[in-house]
Amino acid sequence: MDHLDIPALTRAAGVVRLPGSKSISNRVLLLAALAQGETEVRDLLDSEDTQHMLRGLRQLGTEWQRGKEYSYRVKGNAGCFPLKQAAVYLGNAGTAFRPLTAVLALSGGHYILTGVERMHQRPIRDLVDGLQQIGAAVRYVDKEGYPPLEIFPASIDVSVPIKVRGDVSSQFLTALLMALPLTGKTSVIEITTEMISKPYIEITLNLMARFGVRVEREGWARFTIPGGQRYISPGVIHVEGDASSASYFLAAGAAGGGPVRVDGVGRDSIQGDVAFADALTSMGARIEMGPNWIQARAPESGKLKAFDLDCNHIPDAAMTLAVAALFADGPCTLRNIASWRVKETDRIAAMATELRKLGATVEESVDCLKIFPPHSSLLTPHASFATYDDHRMAMCLSLAALGNVPVRILDPGCVAKTFPEYFDCFAEVTAPVIAIDGPSASGKGTVAAEVAAELGYHYLDSGALYRLVALAAKQAGVAWDDDSGVAAIAAALPAEFEGDRILLSGVDVTEAIRTEDISVGSSKVGALPAVRAALLARQHAYRRWPGLVAEGRDMGSVVFPWADLKVFLTASAEVRAERRYKQLISKGLPASMAVLLQSLQERDRRDAARSLAPLQKGADAELLDTNDLTIGQAVAAILGWSKDRLSH
Ligand code: DC
Repeated sequence: MDHLDIPALTRAAGVVRLPGSKSISNRVLLLAALAQGETEVRDLLDSEDTQHMLRGLRQLGTEWQRGKEYSYRVKGNAGCFPLKQAAVYLGNAGTAFRPLTAVLALSGGHYILTGVERMHQRPIRDLVDGLQQIGAAVRYVDKEGYPPLEIFPASIDVSVPIKVRGDVSSQFLTALLMALPLTGKTSVIEITTEMISKPYIEITLNLMARFGVRVEREGWARFTIPGGQRYISPGVIHVEGDASSASYFLAAGAAGGGPVRVDGVGRDSIQGDVAFADALTSMGARIEMGPNWIQARAPESGKLKAFDLDCNHIPDAAMTLAVAALFADGPCTLRNIASWRVKETDRIAAMATELRKLGATVEESVDCLKIFPPHSSLLTPHASFATYDDHRMAMCLSLAALGNVPVRILDPGCVAKTFPEYFDCFAEVTAPVIAIDGPSASGKGTVAAEVAAELGYHYLDSGALYRLVALAAKQAGVAWDDDSGVAAIAAALPAEFEGDRILLSGVDVTEAIRTEDISVGSSKVGALPAVRAALLARQHAYRRWPGLVAEGRDMGSVVFPWADLKVFLTASAEVRAERRYKQLISKGLPASMAVLLQSLQERDRRDAARSLAPLQKGADAELLDTNDLTIGQAVAAILGWSKDRLSH
């Protein structure tokens, strides 16, 4: 796909399950490969950068296997890599390239490390200098100071301290720290300049400790790795959600009303980028935090405040602040961000260029960016954003659409570096939602489908999902009151919606799920908590641009509690029985008014009485009595409300 068009957005609210942290994933993979014993890594990030690391490790002789979901088993080599000769390509993955350079330099083999063209423009001299000081034989293949690199066997002597700069990339120190325990001897690293991006060093030290290696730190100037230590697998290790990836959703919550909650990082995180939440707080956003989650809402006043911040400790998440600045009440300054210039692209120049396309005035200096936001209603619509093969540029710029302007993201696929599902997740918190509920046979299905068609929105018939579960359970011989049995079926429901046809395991069941028997079954399985939980993620995935009409019981209360518009459609039991009667007769099916009325009244009672997702009008739902309305009139009423609520 060469571009992605994001419609004008006015609101963000919802929940996102974050992918694993890139920084933690690639460090853990390397440490697991160097450790003694096997490590099970759970919730690993599945992205280009981690794939580069995994492939690299395998090329160097490390055995690993992918297990269920995002879990991997890595067989440790109890020290250096077994293969002493290899050429490894690492794309643009800095978190793989730098640490592998250091480890291979101490491995007594002959290796070549290459990457994409941009990787060959990213400096690595400080790291190579450090390695050469202890005798490593590392040669620049093309340009002095830059990858590709060729590494030769050499005798390593760590008796003198290694002096390295800390002001270009913290990954040079991370690389040395992770590699030096392989020598088995006491080694010392002295930082000769200011140390940037310190929280990333903390991640490194934290993870090394989990693999049993202790580092003594004197401030940020001197690090001692006592000799005689080696990495030992902790057995199982969990990767937290990515705090930098969290920043886009938290900013969306702050700029787009919220609440937006991210699951996977929180107060207990070891990632420095959680401090992004503090930056949002300083802009007036309302932030709440639990051990493993963070939630953001807009300021009480509705308008974000301008800021002037030193962003050295959150270099990646700070990019998100640059876009959040568009929504601020005055000029915003990001200071101390020189490292941006040697990342995936020159991020200072790139950000300035792209934000100007929206009508912002931007001043840049060597290590600073100042953004004068246009009045948000004056943002220039239809900006076409270049993304510079930089995942973070693409993710950041998508937020501009929350200024109620359509935007185009060029080369959106570049997000695969760290977050392949990003745009789906972003749509899941920003696409407008209309939730429609009502009793059985109230006509809500027909009305909801027509509203969706009129607006060009996606349509979710959640009742059909419960009906499909009931049918699938019946076919599998699982009783409708067997909570865990039916939930297992719901979790793996092989259902597809093709136009107005519904398929179960490839078989057309459009009619089969509408029988009276399955109606009863669906009402029963719908009362089971585990079944409802199992269908939740599937329903959330229907929320896509330009919007969603979601029809069914708990659409406005549980599944999309922040729906932009909620409608409760009713009609008397008599009117509904009559509608159903006419429907059946018109299809040439046998029907009895009395039986239909009784069955509807029973179902109403059961649906209203159940404790979980009972049938009732939510306090914030619009009531639409359809006793005297045609379908067209009911649709028109809902479209009228949606115009008021979702007006762009
Ligand atoms: O809307 P419908 O008649 O197709 O729904 C079938 C049954 O499923 C009905 O008894 C209510 C139940 N249901 C539910 O529990 N939750 C939903 N979101 C939708 C339907």
